[in-house]
Amino acid sequence: MKRMVGMVVLLLPLSGLFAGGCGGSEEEAGPEEAQAAQLQGPVPQKMREVAADPKMVEAGKQIFQTTCVGCHGKHAEGMIGIGPQLNSDTFMAAAPDEFLIRTITNGRAGTTMIAWGEQLKKNQIYSVVAYLRSLNPAQPATLDESPLQGDPDQGEPLFQQICAACHGSHGAGYQETANGTGIGRKAFLDSVSNGYLRYIIKHGKSGTKMRPFDESSKVAVANLNDDQIEDVIAYLRTNAW
Ligand code: HEC
Ligand code: HEC
Repeated sequence: MKRMVGMVVLLLPLSGLFAGGCGGSEEEAGPEEAQAAQLQGPVPQKMREVAADPKMVEAGKQIFQTTCVGCHGKHAEGMIGIGPQLNSDTFMAAAPDEFLIRTITNGRAGTTMIAWGEQLKKNQIYSVVAYLRSLNPAQPATLDESPLQGDPDQGEPLFQQICAACHGSHGAGYQETANGTGIGRKAFLDSVSNGYLRYIIKHGKSGTKMRPFDESSKVAVANLNDDQIEDVIAYLRTNAW
């Protein structure tokens, strides 16, 4: 709680408490289970469900070029501080269709990415995904969805020393005038599996300043071993706001 900013942030965890507070006799098992569930994040998502249909690609291009371009750029290359890059090979390899569809449909609470599902029909959203895939026809990555092993207390100094410079010390991203996205937000963390997070942290987001943090990466300083990556993810999940 101590690191949270603003009213909205305080209200969210409270509503969670109220929802979990009426369990009666089950209360004892509650908090631990809830914490374990929080660490594991959402279940692995379907990597591909949108057909690579040329007509859909064309329809999706029209929608993208009129609706999304202002924040994500003409070629989906992103605009720092305004909208993330979407035409990134590692991002497109790691991002399941289900994640893209849900993010476009529901938006990302707390950011300017609104719930487009209110204006676009399901087939239009699928078309936009088909278009984005056509820009980076990467094979789906094999994501490691094994149970998270990290320790949030070990992850905190790593996050603050390495990641905070670009993602903000609260992980609020653009809203902390950082150039990385808001990876501390619940709206983001609830939309991505641990396999996605592991992959992006290890391999980076190609085309952006998000470099690979894997030990084998060419950069010699501030790399992370597998355990440390687990710790950082555990820290993010435990502090999601
Ligand atoms: C007003 C600006 C704006 C518009 C218009 C916009 N977005 Fe976004 N988009 C954002 C922001 C901001 C984020 C989230 C950044 C963050 O989490 O810090 C985002 C996130 C995303 C993501 C997730 C990317 C990631 O790295 O996790 C996808 C996919 C996406 N937008 C697709 C679209 C599509 C498709 C459209 C058009 C239908 C669209 N956006 C329109 C601003 C915008
Ligand atoms: C030098 C700056 C920088 C550092 C340091 C950095 N990142 Fe990033 N990160 C970025 C940028 C820039 C993006 C992509 C933003 C965009 O597309 O506009 C990104 C994207 C990400 C994403 C994908 C988010 C999404 O919306 O899908 C994750 C996850 C991530 N970073 C985690 C981390 C973690 C964990 C650390 C620390 C180990 C870290 N980053 C350190 C700059 C950085």
